Amino acid sequence: KFLKMALRHRTDSIAKYEEALSEVMDKIALSYEDLNAIKEKVKGDVKAKLEKDQSGVGRMLNSYVAKIPNGSEKGEYIVLDFGGRFFRVVYVRLNQANSADADFSVAPKGSGTKLGNDEAVFMESKIYPLRKNQTKGSEELFKLIAKSCADFCSRFRLEENPIDIVLVNSFPCRHESINKATLIRWNKGLHPSDGIGLDVSELLQNAISDAGLPHKVVAIVNDTVACLFTGVSEEVNTKLGLIIGTGFNLSFLRTEEQTQAVNAEMGSFGDDGELDEYLTSFDKDIVNAGYMPNPGKQVIEKLVSGTYLPEIFRIMVKHFVDEGLMFNGVSSDQIDRVGGIPGSFLPQIIRAGTQGLNHVQDVLINIDLCGMYADAEACLSIAKMLTHRAAGLVAACLAGIIEVSNYSKHSINICVDGSFYKSHPLLASSIQEMTQELLDGHEHHIGHKIQVTFRTSYDGSAKGAAFLAAANVAANQ
Ligand code: GLC
Repeated sequence: KFLKMALRHRTDSIAKYEEALSEVMDKIALSYEDLNAIKEKVKGDVKAKLEKDQSGVGRMLNSYVAKIPNGSEKGEYIVLDFGGRFFRVVYVRLNQANSADADFSVAPKGSGTKLGNDEAVFMESKIYPLRKNQTKGSEELFKLIAKSCADFCSRFRLEENPIDIVLVNSFPCRHESINKATLIRWNKGLHPSDGIGLDVSELLQNAISDAGLPHKVVAIVNDTVACLFTGVSEEVNTKLGLIIGTGFNLSFLRTEEQTQAVNAEMGSFGDDGELDEYLTSFDKDIVNAGYMPNPGKQVIEKLVSGTYLPEIFRIMVKHFVDEGLMFNGVSSDQIDRVGGIPGSFLPQIIRAGTQGLNHVQDVLINIDLCGMYADAEACLSIAKMLTHRAAGLVAACLAGIIEVSNYSKHSINICVDGSFYKSHPLLASSIQEMTQELLDGHEHHIGHKIQVTFRTSYDGSAKGAAFLAAANVAANQ
């Protein structure tokens, strides 16, 4: 009798839960029409921002990269890849340029990646940690970067070799030229007390010179623009660079009047209310949360990227647990704690879902949630639904930009990077399908089909950054 009562209670709560979840689901599950409408908003936004004077806009930023590399470029560069979570120093040698004093025999191994024309790009790199408490002020931050660069140079005997430096950053910057850019804002939880409005190249150059290094900072480039050019060096039809990792952004080539690489800073789309009608109360809580970077801002980034999706998942599950509708009302430390769910969790639970609910339960145990199949299934469907929405939003941005750009080629390649994209078992295929679907819908307006292909970048941004510097800096000097 007792068991019967318990089961009835359980069934009632599942029914209640299903009702509550389906309400949220209806809002989160964006239809094709919704995505089309968002795509049209993206198109309007891109056009408006591109027409505006750059001083007033925070999106569609000109990178002052005018020349597209063709793969024949030569050169040696130190690329400083400054992402926010960690910091990477890379030596890149293009097309077997004279490597003078560099001595990589001291390194375990270099990656000799091939270009289409069979000439080698040689790269060696080292990662340095970036601890947030080490970065209170921007001067301090750049000092730390220069120190890591000095360590790298001494390790590989480059300190006497005045090869140029390219800075890849993943923060919005307003450019005046390829090597003069001022910071618009910090993000990704990295918040030195100053830096906004300052010349990033000058800050870095001063720090490099103070560290006693002879190198000159010749170019500053957003991570998505570098990703775009890594793509260009591998596949000539590449027109867009996309990153979905800690953050979300994309860049694209404009080619109608003159070539221009545009950093879309797409992560801030939605900041003027463009997505408000699609947001659930959970989304709004995370978008506005004071404990997350840029409260109230970077709206679409918070619905798409690896930093925020686990947090939306967490507060949704917490809500249903607190209502007594999931896990028998028993929560866990990780579910109760801000940032308690690691970025790897969503890819993990979705992968486990393909193997069966037992596996999903095993993943849930990692965050101390012990539940029945029904709970595991519920968690899985929340994870999937957040993934599909993220994919749809990214697809709407990509399709919008492709349509607005009127590329003459009917086949467009997109180069993609970012830990969340690469580790997630469903995200890439969903983005690819939905982008193509949205573009197919546009086919009858333009009279031809645009075929889109995606290429995952495994060589990172350094290769593209080196190519674009080689093509553009030499031409400007
Ligand atoms: C954030 C930054 C942007 C960067 C992106 C991906 O959105 O604002 O500059 O490209 O993250 O790292």
